[in-house]
Amino acid sequence: MKICVLPGDGIGPEIMAEAVRVLQALGRPFEMEEALIGGGAFDATGDPFPEATRQLTREADAVLLGAVGGPQWDALPREKRPERGLLGIRKDLSLFANLRPAILYPELADASTLKAEVVAGLDILIVRELTGDIYFGQPRGVREENGERVGFNTMVYSESEIRRIGHVAFRAAQKRGKRLCSVDKMNVLECTQLWRDVMTEMARDYPDVELSHMLVDNAAMQLVKAPRQFDVMVTGNMFGDILSDEASMLTGSIGMLPSASLDDNNKGMYEPSHGSAPDIAGKGVANPLATILSAAMMLRYTFNLEDDAQRIENAVKKVLAQGYRTGDIYERGANKVGTQAMGDAVLAAMG
Ligand code: IPM
Ligand code: MG
Repeated sequence: MKICVLPGDGIGPEIMAEAVRVLQALGRPFEMEEALIGGGAFDATGDPFPEATRQLTREADAVLLGAVGGPQWDALPREKRPERGLLGIRKDLSLFANLRPAILYPELADASTLKAEVVAGLDILIVRELTGDIYFGQPRGVREENGERVGFNTMVYSESEIRRIGHVAFRAAQKRGKRLCSVDKMNVLECTQLWRDVMTEMARDYPDVELSHMLVDNAAMQLVKAPRQFDVMVTGNMFGDILSDEASMLTGSIGMLPSASLDDNNKGMYEPSHGSAPDIAGKGVANPLATILSAAMMLRYTFNLEDDAQRIENAVKKVLAQGYRTGDIYERGANKVGTQAMGDAVLAAMG
């Protein structure tokens, strides 16, 4: 069970330290090895995704990542930016299936900016395709045309790419509420008409799952209007990027949400859904729970250690019930703690 640990930038190292402690407390023979990624990797080696890191991520069974990015690297050319490291791993390891759960913990219902009755019991899983679409499509660039600059990118999906993410989404729906909503923009984009056609064809092989379709603009609206109508949502890379941020904020606590990016063989990269939060980096106040819950997802999906995964998830529920809160989810009367103390609380709750 080899785990490549990539703490990354900003709050990454602080939150990762807590996740590593939680993993160690399970007493399993994990082999954890750390490497550089993102802005820190660029500073040290001139490359946000250094060759040594690439090797390690290839050899490992799973990658656990903190966060990348920060204002000091914003002006770098595109291929040197911290995000390149992230996109590089996704593509290099063919991590095409991005699972982003948005769960509202009852204890945190007040953290949402939406009315409690709209979001109570919210439990959505967004399945986002992660290695295709306009993110990676060719041609791309900025060129001169008739004396002005013209920017262009290509939205492209092959049938096989749609099918493989479709299978992940249908299977996920089978294990949950058996409802799958596929999101596209077929009224304008041919590429996503194909997406809808393929999803519709696939539905015949999953008669127990109720498939529906929604245009992405309507989906964005429905997510804030009546989010509980959704069980599993499946969509392409760019729509998934946007909708998953929206869905995460329904819960009001992006500091709580883990994610998994998987290939065809349960190899995966696991990371919190939030970013590197440079404004609070190094202060010991960041919420480590999303990273700890990402480690739990890793145990479930890559290592098949369902019991250990639940042990961590239950410990997180317990510390919330006990009133422990980091600043991002703090409410009056709660027990405000920093990153390390939150890690301590989870360890104690694991028993
Ligand atoms: C995400 C992020 C990334 C993405 C960025 C940092 C490249 O927004 O994981 O959602 O767009 O995929
Ligand atoms: Mg995003």
